[in-house]
Amino acid sequence: MDEINFDDIKTSRPKNIAVIGTGYVGLPSAAVFSKWGNNVVAVDIDKNKVDMINSGRMPIYEEYVEDFIKEGLANKTFMATTDYSLAVSSADVVFIAVGTPGTEVGTANMKYVEEAAFSIGQNLAEDKYTVVVTKSTVPVGTHKMVNDAVLKGANGRKVDFDVASNPEFLREGYAVYDSYHGDRVVIGSDSDKALQVLSEIFEHLDTIIFKTDISSSELIKYAANTFLATKITFINEIANLCDRVGADVKSVAAGIGLDVRIGKRFLNPTEIGFGGTCFPKDVNALYQLGLENNYEFKILGSVINVNEKQIYRFIDRIVRRLGSNLEGKTLGILGTAFKDNTDDSRHSSAIDVIRILRGMGAKIKVYDPLALNTSKELLGDTNIEYMDNYKEVFNKVDALVILTEWQEFKNYDYLSLTKNMNFPVIFDARYMLDPNVMKENGIEYYSRGRKVTK
Ligand code: UDX
Repeated sequence: MDEINFDDIKTSRPKNIAVIGTGYVGLPSAAVFSKWGNNVVAVDIDKNKVDMINSGRMPIYEEYVEDFIKEGLANKTFMATTDYSLAVSSADVVFIAVGTPGTEVGTANMKYVEEAAFSIGQNLAEDKYTVVVTKSTVPVGTHKMVNDAVLKGANGRKVDFDVASNPEFLREGYAVYDSYHGDRVVIGSDSDKALQVLSEIFEHLDTIIFKTDISSSELIKYAANTFLATKITFINEIANLCDRVGADVKSVAAGIGLDVRIGKRFLNPTEIGFGGTCFPKDVNALYQLGLENNYEFKILGSVINVNEKQIYRFIDRIVRRLGSNLEGKTLGILGTAFKDNTDDSRHSSAIDVIRILRGMGAKIKVYDPLALNTSKELLGDTNIEYMDNYKEVFNKVDALVILTEWQEFKNYDYLSLTKNMNFPVIFDARYMLDPNVMKENGIEYYSRGRKVTK
């Protein structure tokens, strides 16, 4: 990835910006807006989080965010608060970046967005124009609800605002990088004035600012995420087929990725399916949105189905090698985060795999470079040891299972490390290692749809 000289990239039209929500979307966005030279106030209802942030400690890990926030705190251009009035009354733009967790039926839960919009309405100044922007991933049509909730909060006061949408395309772990290097910024509003104000926040970036109406903007976010999830699912199915026909999925992915119409990114197969807080939720939500509008989005139905089955295919392979009763066996696990470069293990397929293997009687030794704390919260201590050093997950284990695509996992000295295992068996769900090298070293290596060519 290109180096970024952050200090060179500044806005020439600083604004007062409020960001509601300090999670994986809100906090990096607030940090970046502050670094660009705006005055930023971040709001969260959780006082502990707010106190942490104001003392320069971050509730989440995301590269560069802590540095930017500390700089903003020192320059007095950034603060966090639980008090909406401090943030909203002087804001030119308010970004809503609260969670939209999936409900049991798969639709997005809009409770937090609605509450935030209501509180914004309560605190808008009467003599100031403000743009209220949804950054959270929201169903098409949410802007009407946001508009109504703001008006309800304003309770008859004469407030001057427009609603807009600025969908977030940041990847966790690369949020700051993506803010500087995004392929585009999408802004949607049915008000030209709002589009103008909002575009001024991003105009100093060397990227396309794509302006559209608000419903299209809301749909772009879902369409982009579900398209990428479909792309991953496609290559996962190719891997399943490669296994049967003796082809190599990495070669197939590389071969098709060279076609610029297809593109090589997001073609990394995963035996345990995609995870995280966005893709599974968004695929479900768009499928449901279709049904609510009397349309069955069949491709997405298949994506959901295939992705759910991936984990069981993977477990099945382990069972075929080790048996279904794993009592008395110890498994070493590399990776619990839902992907590399993040401490986030929410909705991580790796966590599901560990739960299943533990349920089958296995004892687990696990290592992850960043996500052990968040994993411990989800998995507890029963039959799991959390290791500070990756070398320890090889010691006296009956097999090693690789579940997250951390790049450092590629660089370990597997030849010497596997000598500490009871048996040199590796199940690699993330296609991190070379089957030829494994074979040369006498390591029993399983990875779906790979071919030993030497
Ligand atoms: C995603 C979108 O990429 C981002 O634009 C949006 O703003 C939020 O949702 P994120 O969930 O942070 O970002 O992670 P991403 O890198 O997209 O990975 C999502 C899941 O897909 C992970 O489980 C990851 O391991 C998996 N994945 C990704 C693959 O299996 N193969 C790939 O080639 C890419």
